[in-house]
Amino acid sequence: MDPAPRRPEPHEYLPADYFRRAERSEIFSHQAPLEVDLGCGDGSFLLGMAREFPERNFLGVERLLGRVRKVCKRASNAGLENVRLLRLESRYTIEWLLPEASVSRLHLLCPDPWPKVRHHRRRLFQPPFLDAVRKVLVPGGEFLFMTDHPEYFEWAEEIMTHYTGLQKLPWQDGDFFYPKTDFQVQWESEGKSMHRMRLAQPL
Ligand SMILES: C[S@@+](CC[C@H](N)C(=O)[O-])C[C@H]1O[C@@H](n2cnc3c(N)ncnc32)[C@H](O)[C@@H]1O
Repeated sequence: MDPAPRRPEPHEYLPADYFRRAERSEIFSHQAPLEVDLGCGDGSFLLGMAREFPERNFLGVERLLGRVRKVCKRASNAGLENVRLLRLESRYTIEWLLPEASVSRLHLLCPDPWPKVRHHRRRLFQPPFLDAVRKVLVPGGEFLFMTDHPEYFEWAEEIMTHYTGLQKLPWQDGDFFYPKTDFQVQWESEGKSMHRMRLAQPL
């Protein structure tokens, strides 16, 4: 017998069906440009963005239920109506769940770098993932990738020397409002620097 379905937290987006692409209206009833934060962790970045841009919608994707619950609670306490949390695996979310041409900006910030060579295949930043990113971005939509891990960044740079489906745009720290993530604060306090890559879906 199937277990009883879990009740969604306030601010949680619990898909009715995980085996088809969602409609935008299932995620947010109020339609606005959509930004997605993959592996949103404690939600510092997501909630900071949602506060700054009430005219945009923000979906945080996170695999750990405890973190999803905490961020839902923080969004609720802050009265942020433009935030939803999805407990799901990032790659699955992009490849199979999000509607095509629906995301204005997709953020992948301080993802697990999988430093061991035998684990590199688990890294998100790979051509099949980028193909899926292209599909969910609106024309002109952007994918923002940031890591503290120099070798993971080199890996991404190397992929982008032959991946032509997304265009590189300049991105320096301070170019636009971009709150620090929880992990970024931690790494920077240890003296590490951040490596940034901004890619866009051609118009
Ligand atoms: C290193 S932390 C970074 C969190 C946040 N982005 C930050 O910069 O503070 C990675 C986060 O992504 C989540 N995560 C890792 N792999 C994931 C996956 N495949 N799908 C969804 N979430 C994932 C982890 O549970 C964790 O919260």
